[in-house]
Amino acid sequence: MGRVVFGVALGCAVVTCAIAAVLVGRRARSQRKWRRAVEVLREFEDGCATSIGRLKQVVDAMAVEMHAGLASDGGSKLKMLLSFIDSLPNGNEIGTYYALDLGGTNFRVLRVRLGGKGSMISSPQVERQAIPRELMSGTSEDLFDFIAMKLKQFVEQEDDASEKKPDEEKVLGFTFSFPIRQMSVSSGILIKWTKGFSVEDAVGKDVARCLEEAMTKAGLNVRVTALVNDTVGTLALAHYYDEDTVAAVIFGTGTNACYVERTDAIIKCQGLLTNSGGMVVNMEWGNFWSSHLPRTSYDIALDDESPNCNDQGFEKMISGMYLGDIARRVLYRMAQESDIFGNGAYNLSIRFILRTPLMAAMHEDDSPDLREVGRILTENLQMPDVSLKARRLVVRVCDVVTRRAARLAAAGIVGILKKIGRDGSGGVASGRTKGRPRRTVVAIEGGLYANYSMFREYLNEAVAEILGEEVAQNVVLRVTEDGSGIGAALLAAAYSSNR
Ligand code: BGC
Repeated sequence: MGRVVFGVALGCAVVTCAIAAVLVGRRARSQRKWRRAVEVLREFEDGCATSIGRLKQVVDAMAVEMHAGLASDGGSKLKMLLSFIDSLPNGNEIGTYYALDLGGTNFRVLRVRLGGKGSMISSPQVERQAIPRELMSGTSEDLFDFIAMKLKQFVEQEDDASEKKPDEEKVLGFTFSFPIRQMSVSSGILIKWTKGFSVEDAVGKDVARCLEEAMTKAGLNVRVTALVNDTVGTLALAHYYDEDTVAAVIFGTGTNACYVERTDAIIKCQGLLTNSGGMVVNMEWGNFWSSHLPRTSYDIALDDESPNCNDQGFEKMISGMYLGDIARRVLYRMAQESDIFGNGAYNLSIRFILRTPLMAAMHEDDSPDLREVGRILTENLQMPDVSLKARRLVVRVCDVVTRRAARLAAAGIVGILKKIGRDGSGGVASGRTKGRPRRTVVAIEGGLYANYSMFREYLNEAVAEILGEEVAQNVVLRVTEDGSGIGAALLAAAYSSNR
């Protein structure tokens, strides 16, 4: 009897030990996997480090590349393109002008009324249209015919409601937000596409003429008097309201900057004469590159799989088109190396499934249980039941991606200030007018800055950190809404008589 009891007890003990061993083993495995996910995050975080020292190196590299791009064509990855805008609108422009803004997956048509005498520009009539996906990689004829047709519909609607005669010539500013080599204010040849566009037969063509031909075909009597980059439009509008504006930066689907340069500093165009002694230069900084940029294996993979591999390296680390996809790549690696997302992480393998606005919404979720993160993972990525602990990791990944982007963007801005002597490096006194420190305004347009508060905060903070509080006090970063479109209409007005 005693033996039987002993046997049973022994059996129970063995079973209990076995169960405990399985549980402990499972727990250890799961902890190992969890640790692996955290390691993936740590490695990514290290790879994205943007210490103040590194940011200053990026500032210097930006300024050096600006000089090189101004010295010769092909002298730098920064194209430093001439805009032929030598004076910005001064407020005397009067009349009704149109603008067409093509730069991303949407385009906009605007009508702007200018009252002269520096008056406020009343809200323009604006219509937004999505560009059908197939047109982004079709023929230039199809793309421009589509745009001209939409412009025609807009003009006709507006004509019905206004006193203007339908066949009267209209003047239009064309914002074309891709790199173009300009021959004049109103003409320019497309160098290459960016942001997912690949209408190959348009490369090498004068895009203003392509638009004019399509408009004539559509029966429109419209003249393009200004062909401008979105940065240049933004600068024009911001300068209209504040003359201390010296540069404009776009943080949207893509990224870029322009600024006012002295003509004698544009060495590659010796003998260039302008009335003002200056010219707006479109930097095309999306293509900036420097060995000081913190690049990770995820950035390399994103670039390799993009249609414009080895191009737009800065843009691919900073702009709205790419941030969500960098985060997705890191999360996918975590899912591959651990089971922290359960079995439902298949969708993380799909490129661009995590758009930047969704990533921003997860990043900015301040609910204690990260409800919004859970909702987006469930609804947009079909990843239900992700634990709170794992959701916290998701937020940290978003934070690393956005912080790096914003800090590098800040270094880019300070690079421009350095090039034009407004970064205080010649001493705070060097930037003084009549004893007062000189105010410097940089206009900013684009949803990434305007709508993503964490991006904006990190960027503002980094500008102050690099410049130091005293110099930073005189540098204003100003959101300029709709600048690219309204600014193009302003420039169309300013340049309509001297084509
Ligand atoms: C283009 C620039 C443009 C920027 C912002 C970049 O991809 O190359 O011309 O200004 O996007 O829209």
